[in-house]
Amino acid sequence: MGVSGSGKSTIAAELAKRLSWTFEDGDRFHPKSNVAKMSAGHPLTDKDRLPWLQAIADEIDRVCEAGGHVVVACSALKRAYREILVHGRDDVRIVFLDGSQALIADRLARRKGHFMPPGLLDSQFKTLEPPQADECPINVSIDAPVETIVNNIAAQVATEVRT
Ligand SMILES: Nc1ncnc2c1ncn2[C@@H]1O[C@H](COP(=O)(O)OP(=O)(O)OP(=O)(O)O)[C@@H](O)[C@H]1O
Ligand SMILES: [Mg+2]
Repeated sequence: MGVSGSGKSTIAAELAKRLSWTFEDGDRFHPKSNVAKMSAGHPLTDKDRLPWLQAIADEIDRVCEAGGHVVVACSALKRAYREILVHGRDDVRIVFLDGSQALIADRLARRKGHFMPPGLLDSQFKTLEPPQADECPINVSIDAPVETIVNNIAAQVATEVRT
């Protein structure tokens, strides 16, 4: 989890590779109606987000049922969203990619092939509810090379999950 540009897609894909787990980008689970809305430049409401988050939660159940493991990149900015994703499971860990707005703005400005509406990062930081201690998050600073961040997360995941 983390705001846009915090590195979710990059880190989740590398982490999945490192652990030999599956990688999923949460964006893929949006219903067509949400994709249409976003393409038209309209922000999603929390009601719009429900079927999306539920679809990711269902995928987590499906993978776990099959004895697999998956790393999902999903912004999950609000606690309520994360509660849908985790839905009481004790085998789902939240990884929070934590970084300053200045650092992330700089990375977004350099990112290729993505248009970033001005003000979006601001609103992401306003919406962000950093995970609380009772969510048992793995908090990592994104002010480090990708490899270092992945090593850090992998070490914390490895202490409790047999891959
Ligand atoms: N640790 C890092 N060091 C340097 N650059 C990074 C790091 N992590 C990610 N980046 C770069 O920052 C940019 C944003 O990363 P990425 O696209 O993975 O973020 P994201 O959280 O998936 O964003 P979005 O929510 O918009 O999909 C990319 O250009 C990526 O290559
Ligand atoms: Mg992404």
